[in-house]
Amino acid sequence: MKRLPVLLAFLWLACILVGCRPIVAPLDDAAPAFLPGEAGVGDPVFPLLGNSGYDVLHYTLDLNVDVQRNVISGSATILAEATQPLSAFNLDLLGMTVETVTVNEAPTIFVRDGQELTITLTEPLEARAPFTTVVVYGGAPEALADPELDFISQGWNWRDETVFVVSEPAGAMTWYPVNNHPTDKATYTLRITVDEPHVVAANGVLVEEIDHGDQRTYIWEMAQPMASYLTTVAIGDFVRVETQAAENVLIRHYFPTNEVEQLSRVFANTGEMIAFYSDLIGEYPFDEYGVVVMPFALGFALETQTLSVFGPEMTTEGVNAHELAHQWFGNAVTLARWDQTWLNEGFATYLQRLWLEHKLGREFLDKGMRQYYTMLAGASAPPPGIVQEDSLFSISVYERGAWVLHALRLKIGDELFWEFLRTYYARFKDGVVTTDDFIATANEVSGQDLTEFLNAWLYDVEMPPIPE
Ligand code: TRP
Ligand code: ZN
Repeated sequence: MKRLPVLLAFLWLACILVGCRPIVAPLDDAAPAFLPGEAGVGDPVFPLLGNSGYDVLHYTLDLNVDVQRNVISGSATILAEATQPLSAFNLDLLGMTVETVTVNEAPTIFVRDGQELTITLTEPLEARAPFTTVVVYGGAPEALADPELDFISQGWNWRDETVFVVSEPAGAMTWYPVNNHPTDKATYTLRITVDEPHVVAANGVLVEEIDHGDQRTYIWEMAQPMASYLTTVAIGDFVRVETQAAENVLIRHYFPTNEVEQLSRVFANTGEMIAFYSDLIGEYPFDEYGVVVMPFALGFALETQTLSVFGPEMTTEGVNAHELAHQWFGNAVTLARWDQTWLNEGFATYLQRLWLEHKLGREFLDKGMRQYYTMLAGASAPPPGIVQEDSLFSISVYERGAWVLHALRLKIGDELFWEFLRTYYARFKDGVVTTDDFIATANEVSGQDLTEFLNAWLYDVEMPPIPE
């Protein structure tokens, strides 16, 4: 027994010299090891987008915007939940100056490196612990060049005393700190203060306007989950035009002051379109819908949630239907990875054709789809199933993507196809999907194994023959 103190002393010394892990680890199992979250969520196209270790529930962006100079200042209050025992975490933010960061009201140390804002916690967080981060920041936001669509700058854009925000896929981080990946959807409050007489439109419902004399605060509330690339703010000389849709959805469009009459005519059928898609797919996912049309040409439109952004030259019936259809597919049901953009664009493109079929008949649809088939085959359009950063929005993604759905419809017949559309929507609404989810749902609803059939449409270099 005399040896025991000696042994303990030896163990104690060994502990100090080489660390206690082999000896005390079994006793220590219950205590969590606090680790930093990763600086990305493993997206195959954008490895640095998003961050692991936490899940955002709600963003409150309280920003004063100087529209003359394009300078913003204010705060982002981010309510999140740790998804692991957390010692540090990242937000995505590009440009801007960060003044202070607090977590649960305690000032914290932060470091900036490229798009990563890394915050070290003074008190580590247990898994599932809710926490509130406040980032006080400001500056002149700089939009991000798009490597594929050279006429687009992602994020916060400023032109002729007008602001518009179009962020797909990565631009949200140009104007607020964010877990910038669609797998982390959240709800939002946008409190935007501007000089009179500018008007602010944003996602969701305008819940309050506060008049400060020469300034005005607009408070917009997005009550359903939203992917960061779908957040938008538009500031300018707009007129709000309201109408009531058939489906209890308030329609409120924002048009440039001197285009109100003409654009009101162009968008007079929005209610009818909402009714059509609601019948076909399932209830419209949000409380309101509308578009904001810029006073200058853009060359694009974007399906920003509940408030699609349009260049005036884009307001054709086809594009109007496309951006509206995205509210179901793209916005309520969102791609989980950026190499599967066909899940957004193929659906919106096919649904835009279904609106035209509704108005002009099945023959019109079939004829149009066959024309695209010939065009795609002639152009050797690559398969849409997996894309790279420079081809996220290629013609293949849109048109071969739409053909995946048309081929499925021809294969299983209209009735099962409508059932598939409704089931897929109901199942994944408010969440994210992968192509595997799509195939599994098609197999289940049809009662057939369509994996090989669909794989050929998605991944074969050559387009398969049109199903009889
Ligand atoms: N999703 C848009 C559409 O199909 C196109 C688009 C992709 C876009 N990236 C964008 C538009 C960036 C504006 C900004 O309607
Ligand atoms: Zn689209």
